[in-house]
Amino acid sequence: MALRTTLPLRLLARPLTTYAPPLALLQHQLQHQHQYHFRGLRTSTPAPVSSTLSAWDGGKAEPPECGINVDMPVRMDTAPAPPPGDDFHVAMVGAGNIMFGSKAGPWNHSVRLEHKLGPRLKVVALIDPDTARAKSVLETKCASFVESAYKDTKVFPNIGEYARWIEEEGGTKPRAIIVGTPPAFRGGVAGGRNLELQLLEHFPAAGYLIEKPVSTAPIDEVKHVAGRLVQNQNVISVGYMLRYLRCVQKMKQIIHDNNLTIMATNARYSAAYQSIDKPAWWDKSKDMGPVIEQGTHFCDLSRYLGGDIDIATVAAYSVEHDERPGKLSAIPVNEDAIAPDQRIPRITSAVWKYAGGAVGSFTHTVALQGTLYDCELEVWADGFHMRLVDPYNAPQLLVRRPGEDHSELHQFNDDDPFFSEMSAFIDAVEGRPDAHILSSFEDATKSYELTWAIRLASEKSAAMRRAAAAKA
Ligand SMILES: NC(=O)c1ccc[n+]([C@@H]2O[C@H](COP(=O)([O-])OP(=O)(O)OC[C@H]3O[C@@H](n4cnc5c(N)ncnc54)[C@H](O)[C@@H]3O)[C@@H](O)[C@H]2O)c1
Repeated sequence: MALRTTLPLRLLARPLTTYAPPLALLQHQLQHQHQYHFRGLRTSTPAPVSSTLSAWDGGKAEPPECGINVDMPVRMDTAPAPPPGDDFHVAMVGAGNIMFGSKAGPWNHSVRLEHKLGPRLKVVALIDPDTARAKSVLETKCASFVESAYKDTKVFPNIGEYARWIEEEGGTKPRAIIVGTPPAFRGGVAGGRNLELQLLEHFPAAGYLIEKPVSTAPIDEVKHVAGRLVQNQNVISVGYMLRYLRCVQKMKQIIHDNNLTIMATNARYSAAYQSIDKPAWWDKSKDMGPVIEQGTHFCDLSRYLGGDIDIATVAAYSVEHDERPGKLSAIPVNEDAIAPDQRIPRITSAVWKYAGGAVGSFTHTVALQGTLYDCELEVWADGFHMRLVDPYNAPQLLVRRPGEDHSELHQFNDDDPFFSEMSAFIDAVEGRPDAHILSSFEDATKSYELTWAIRLASEKSAAMRRAAAAKA
């Protein structure tokens, strides 16, 4: 079944079990039928919604396997107050946007942690070579109602200094480590980018929440790191938060409940380039290009829904900066300062075969201006067409079912995939029974491999085009 191929390798061995809901659960579902089947669901035309198995707690033996329950949202604003308990010690690596927020988007791990753990949260260390930035964000936190979580936080320039403080001065070890550094500093083996190996050396028992993409290092290095992490068997989650979107979980549920074999996926990721003013983003030697840096979210979602990919089949074409359709009028950085061979493609279009036989395609565009991205992901199976629309801003899922000409519309208000991701991670670190981490390091390494395969294939085709043009 297609679903199984998306599971982390160590879970693949687990047999699928037939779901038989306990009696108490069935009674509960009958009492709350209306709530389960219709909450958040709007139907555009009278298309019958085939009843789905209501997953109760999203447990491992319940559909969608290894997913969270779409009918039981993990919303930040309605989450129950954190229960009292012992102090929960956290170390944060990176004091930037993903950790403390920015105007660019809704990400902010610290706020989700505060809501998940309440007064139990104690951030023992904030690690960032830019110690001034780290101190500045701590000052802001300490001037607010979450002061108790940060008032004793120590700032360190690197992991080694933090470990030394623990060893020599009896400092506090973390139960969880949140990693939000740029990918160039992690996921690899070589010094300077071997963060995970350092974490394993000093804190093998802690849980790690690591941002995407897993690295910018060569894929063999990253696979080695993935192997070491799997061997260590600590709790690890990678920040592919779109997997936690309720629309995406609904897609998983529909695939599972209808035992679908996926025929094709088609992902489109259109960045609003005018608003991207980080010079590194425009420079392949720094951020590795937009497919690896941001398109990775949609490559990962394609794999999550379509399964593993036969990497050898990946083919790709691009529109490069020096081609006529590649001329852009509103680039917000000085692109002349970037070496011509490191300038990013404007369009990248890729196709591949999944191991299960389906065909996948992905287009990344650097063409839109303004600020809003436009992203869409489609999945086809016999009789089914699912369209995930605008997952970043106002997620919607359109589902056309067998024998139908119309699509049903699913919208889940106030969905917060960042909170669901953090909530699942903390629950897993605490050993709670129904914690569902939806992206493992091992699996995220496969998404990283796909994005590199797309980049290399598009560069190869561009080089062939250039060589042919030079000969002509
Ligand atoms: N999931 C999402 O939607 C999402 C959103 C934003 C960022 N991200 C990811 O988060 C990561 C960080 O992005 P950002 O926007 O926060 O970047 P940023 O530049 O705002 O912050 C990164 C911080 O890490 C620090 N740093 C650099 N090297 C370090 C090291 N070796 N140890 C500790 N700290 C180090 C930098 O000084 C900086 O303060 C990237 O991988 C990015 O793709 C993910």
